[in-house]
Amino acid sequence: MGELRIEQQAELGSGADFWTTKSTGDVPAVTLTDGPHGVRRQRAAAEHVGLGDSEPATCFPPAVALAQTWDPDLVTRVAAAIGREAQALDVQVVLGPGVNIKRDPRCGRNFEYYSEDPHLAGVLGAAWVKGIQAEGVGASVKHFAVNNQEHDRMRVSADVDARALREIYLRPFQRVITTARPWTVMAAYNRINGEWATQNHWLLSRVLRDEWGFDGVVVSDWGAVVDRAASVSAGLDLQMPGGDAATDGEVVDAVARGTLPEAVAAAAAERVAELSRRATAARRPGSTFDVDAHHELAREAARRSIVLLRNDLNVLPLRTEMSVAVIGEFARTVRYQGGGSSHITSTRLDVPVDEIRARADGEVVFAAGYTTDGSGDASALCDNAVRAAAAADAAVLFLGLDESWESEGFDRADIDLPATQLDMLAAVAAVQPRTVVVLVHGGVLQLAPVTAPAVLDAALSGQGGGAAIADVLYGLANPSGKLAETVPLRLQDTPAYLNFPGEAGHVRYGEGIFVGYRWYDAREMGVAFPYGHGLSYTSFAYRDLHVSVEGDAIVARVTVANTGVRAGREIAQFYVGLPGSRVTRPPRTLAAFAGVNLAPGEQACVEVRLDRADLVYWDVRVDDWILEGGDYRVDVGASSRDIRATAVVTLTGDPVRVPLTLESTLAEVAAHPDVMQRLLALLSVGATLPVVKPAADGPTMAAMMSSIPVGRLPGFTGGKVTRKQLERVLAQSQ
Ligand code: BGC
Repeated sequence: MGELRIEQQAELGSGADFWTTKSTGDVPAVTLTDGPHGVRRQRAAAEHVGLGDSEPATCFPPAVALAQTWDPDLVTRVAAAIGREAQALDVQVVLGPGVNIKRDPRCGRNFEYYSEDPHLAGVLGAAWVKGIQAEGVGASVKHFAVNNQEHDRMRVSADVDARALREIYLRPFQRVITTARPWTVMAAYNRINGEWATQNHWLLSRVLRDEWGFDGVVVSDWGAVVDRAASVSAGLDLQMPGGDAATDGEVVDAVARGTLPEAVAAAAAERVAELSRRATAARRPGSTFDVDAHHELAREAARRSIVLLRNDLNVLPLRTEMSVAVIGEFARTVRYQGGGSSHITSTRLDVPVDEIRARADGEVVFAAGYTTDGSGDASALCDNAVRAAAAADAAVLFLGLDESWESEGFDRADIDLPATQLDMLAAVAAVQPRTVVVLVHGGVLQLAPVTAPAVLDAALSGQGGGAAIADVLYGLANPSGKLAETVPLRLQDTPAYLNFPGEAGHVRYGEGIFVGYRWYDAREMGVAFPYGHGLSYTSFAYRDLHVSVEGDAIVARVTVANTGVRAGREIAQFYVGLPGSRVTRPPRTLAAFAGVNLAPGEQACVEVRLDRADLVYWDVRVDDWILEGGDYRVDVGASSRDIRATAVVTLTGDPVRVPLTLESTLAEVAAHPDVMQRLLALLSVGATLPVVKPAADGPTMAAMMSSIPVGRLPGFTGGKVTRKQLERVLAQSQ
């Protein structure tokens, strides 16, 4: 960078237009576009905020569905295909994956995120990054960080405590960055505890670079920079979109004034240049991609993502000779991706009703049942649907939300399905006992009114979703998806219900670490469908759970057997808990999982490692990850509430030496016997101090004494002991 003048360095740090960086000197421009479930290469570059027309690309299942596969290998294959398409469309960085936590079901962008659980979100995010970058295309992990709502997203301050920040909201990013080394990270729009993400030195430099070793480019979310020089100073390298040369001047001025160190500005420019070199070297000009093969992959991913929520009396799978009433506008006007910046132009589209027809031998009748925008004569549409359902052997009802109900840019006010759809469902179910509901939606729905005997959750399943749904309905594919988010009984039960979306520029993360199932489990609340739930057309048995310790990790082994008559896939989920922990913890947290394909009667041993990183908690006293010693309970199950076996294993844990200060209590000092000795000597009260000898004045006195901070003792000694003396005693402990 020494060769570039400060003006040129500053220029490199802002884009040339909406999607490309500048080429300066011998540094070629780089094109970045959305993601993450396909490439959104806009036709006219510097167009507009734009969701305009984009080049055709394969629309894979968005993260909401992809996460339901619980399959990092499949996610890697999908991301690799997106990488090949990016190469063919001359794109060097695809803006994804989104690994923000689904804090509240109302967040309009939950469809673009993986899970309420940081382990699953991190594992799948890392798998995505590995897949795309293996094709020579960079990822941009977003939105860093604590961007969990759309309401006021460009201003709101997410006010979150240190443990929740580390254990829940930063965890997926940490895993992705340390294990998959993304080329870029996207700094979010919002503030965190009052400071803009794009200007947050602690976040962008201390945590991201110093602690996690990130050496790539930090790019702003589009329009997220408030003060460019302050952002560069905090660790941001690239402002997007480009075109505003004024901010380059701000950087130059700040360096001239000495408020921005020259070396910091040079380092930022060097990182952008390095991104360009890396991307240029990996470019494959003139490459193409296999549209058919990618469509097949989109179908495969969709098949694997569908969750069988309920299947009373084995209503599913349908037999091909049955006559079927396919009901619901969404069966022909497909809703298969989310609204907003990730919206892409798909290469083709499978329409569910056509795909059902293609597999059925019996008659298939279609009835719209409702309109997606609520227009039209609801009762006439409903009557038609009821007639069709009554005359058929089975009814398959598509229910869901369209983009006017949920999208990037706004949050939902509730999690309800439209009333007209629910009324129509009730009328159809009354005449047709073999009613199957297929749900199409991006965010969690209130499912209490969905009383049909069989319910399939297709979420948003991408361009191959129609074929995938039909395959599952007819048993050509055996469902194996598992929920990546709890379905609550009521919106009022959800963890952030009273703290979402905040007011007056702040949203308080009052539920702390108790997000998703952590909350429902800790409060022993009922849920409609638990985290990790998903049925199959076959059944699985678990036995012989065996756990052992390997260093700081737990190794768990269990045998899973297919006890039914169809081949199937099971996801064994391993949760860990530490009853009696010294810190507040949920009863169980996901620490590992593994998928296994089994033929009827077949069994397999599933072995996983529960790594230290998934066992530690963030200790606010020492600002570090600590492995607590104790008897850990390992639960293995088919969901977070369908635990099939439990074992206990003892871990030694880390020694924690909390630095003593004048604010430390006598009880805390008592944990350092050497210091306590010296303190007692100073106080000259010897062993009569109740904290050491509680029996003397009884337990009440002892408890009162133990909570006295050392710094208040001078007052209790009539000034004979000074704060200076106490400080000296405490200092000897460090
Ligand atoms: C979104 C990002 C997206 C960017 C570019 C922003 O509004 O938050 O996720 O990558 O626009 O389209």
